[in-house]
Amino acid sequence: MKAAMDKLSLDPAEGQGGLHVAIIMDGNGRWAAERGLPRSEGHRQGVEALRRTVDASRDLGLTHLTLYSFSSENWSRPKQEINDLFGLLRRFVRRDLADLHKNGVKIRVIGTRTGLDQDLLRMIDDAVELTKDNTTLNLTIAFNYGSRDEIARAAQRIAEDVAGGSIAASDISPELFNSYLDTAGLPDPDLLIRTSGELRLSNFLLWQLAYSEFVFVDVYWPDFSRETLEAAITEYQRRQRRFGGTTARSAG
Ligand code: FPP
Repeated sequence: MKAAMDKLSLDPAEGQGGLHVAIIMDGNGRWAAERGLPRSEGHRQGVEALRRTVDASRDLGLTHLTLYSFSSENWSRPKQEINDLFGLLRRFVRRDLADLHKNGVKIRVIGTRTGLDQDLLRMIDDAVELTKDNTTLNLTIAFNYGSRDEIARAAQRIAEDVAGGSIAASDISPELFNSYLDTAGLPDPDLLIRTSGELRLSNFLLWQLAYSEFVFVDVYWPDFSRETLEAAITEYQRRQRRFGGTTARSAG
């Protein structure tokens, strides 16, 4: 494992923010179906994979990890499955928050609050507040998130500020727009990983992934491991060496 760590050690000169990995966690349902298990078991194992991935990210020295855990489109799933997913989020926050905090993980949640229960919102707010000064790993969970919705909400707030006179229409630039997104203040992802072999973005971080490297892996999310993460980062670093400029930064 030491060799793998060395191989992956991130160049401190690489970007100011270190490495930001975003993941579309896909394939829980197919993982369960292949084993004759209910989809809920796939999601439960998905949370185990999430825990492993947070630990591995800390060990590998990533500064940012962003996970797509419930999309605005997921509301079209059966009510029972939606309840299962919400239950898992609640249990994850309840069981893991103390450890995440102890380990210096800063939690942030992106997505719309509309449609979420008050108690869940309070739970999320408390987790964000508790961990706000942590600096080891920035863990962003996209929950009730859709990128087009995020962009439209940002545009609405910009329009309101233009109408209110606090900014002029001519002030609208990519940088200003960025500051109105849910991800304001976060660096763009360097690497996007999607599991389960599907090759699409599914309305995830459309603005923020403009220059990111994409790695699609053939394992279902419940089987995602530290080794899968390392292999994806190695692939990212190989691409950097091949296509990057003179400095070791992400291609772009
Ligand atoms: C994709 O599998 C995964 C999701 C819709 C959600 C990801 C959720 C988790 C990892 C567990 C929940 C964790 C938290 C913290 C909320 P899929 O159901 O789309 O799989 P399929 O494409 O094979 O059907």
